[in-house]
Amino acid sequence: MRVIETVNEMVKWPRTNDTVLVPTMGALHEGHRELIRAGKNLTGEEGTLIVSIYVNPTQFNDKKDFKSYPKTFDQDYKICEEEGVDLIFHPSDSEMYSGKETVSVNESKLTKYLCGASRSGHFEGVCTVVTKLFNIIKPATAVFGKKDYQQLAIIKKLVTDLNFSIKIIEAETVREQDGLAISSRNKFLNAEERKQSNTIYKALTAMSSSTERQASELIALSRSIIESEAPLGTIDYLEIVDRKTLEPIQKIDRPSLAAIAIFFSKTRLIDNIEINSL
Ligand code: PAJ
Repeated sequence: MRVIETVNEMVKWPRTNDTVLVPTMGALHEGHRELIRAGKNLTGEEGTLIVSIYVNPTQFNDKKDFKSYPKTFDQDYKICEEEGVDLIFHPSDSEMYSGKETVSVNESKLTKYLCGASRSGHFEGVCTVVTKLFNIIKPATAVFGKKDYQQLAIIKKLVTDLNFSIKIIEAETVREQDGLAISSRNKFLNAEERKQSNTIYKALTAMSSSTERQASELIALSRSIIESEAPLGTIDYLEIVDRKTLEPIQKIDRPSLAAIAIFFSKTRLIDNIEINSL
C-alpha cells in the first residue's frame, strides 16, 4: 500500500480507469470500513482503491472542533491495509491550500436546509475540498455515506452541475448494536449520554414505521420519544424533508427523509432515516 503526501505526486500517479475514491477525514471506524469495502468490490482485481485522509480546515465553522478532531493515522493505515486499499492520499494543509485561494465551490439551494442552516460555510468547505480531491485524484467512482445525507445530496448535485465524469456510490449508514450511527464524535459522549443516544435511532424508526402521513404528527411523536428517553439531549433540528430537494414537507406523499441533529453537551450528533410514501 502506497502513501502519497504531495499533490504533485498524486496527480502524476499512473491510475487505471476504474479508480475508486473513498474521501475521509481519517479516525476511521466501522462506517468508513464499509465504504472502503464497497469501494473494493467496485475496483476488483484490476482497479485502484484510494482512500483520502484529510481533515479539511475550511469545513469547520468552529476552530475548537477542528483542533479536537481525532487524528489516528497509524490505526487508519492498519484498517486500510486490512481492507486491501492500494493507496492513501494524506496531504498536509499547505499541500491542499496555499492560503492565496480566491475561488471556492458553493451550492446555493440544498445547503439552505438542515445542517446548512446553522453551519454557515460548512458545505462550501466540503464542496471545495471534494472538488479539489476529484481534480487531483481523478477517480471514476467515489463512495459517500448516507449518514451525511445532505452532504451526499450536495455532492451528487456538484457532480451534475460541474460535469464531473464521476459515478457517486451511496453507502448505507453503519450502526452500533443499539442503533446509534457510528461516528468519530461518539467517543466524546459520557456513559449516561451514550446510553441515551440510542434514542435517536428509536425516534427515527418510530417515524419510518408509522402509518401516519402528516409530517407534523411524526415529528411530534419522535420529539416526545426523545424528550422522555433522552433528557440529556437537546434537539438542534428534527425535520422531515423531500429526499431530493431537502425542502421541508407537510405530508409524506413522496420519497422523504427524517433528519435529526441533537446535542449531548457539546457533542452534536446527526442521523437520518428514509421514509417512503405508502
Ligand atoms: P468523514 O466524516 O470522515 O466521513 C467520510 C465518509 O464516511 C462520508 O461519506 C460519510 O458519510 C461516511 N460515514 C461516516 N460515518 C458513517 C457511518 N456510520 N456509516 C456509513 N458511512 C459513514 O464526510 C467527511 O469525512 C468529509 O466531509 C469529506 C467528504 C471527507 C470532505 O472533507
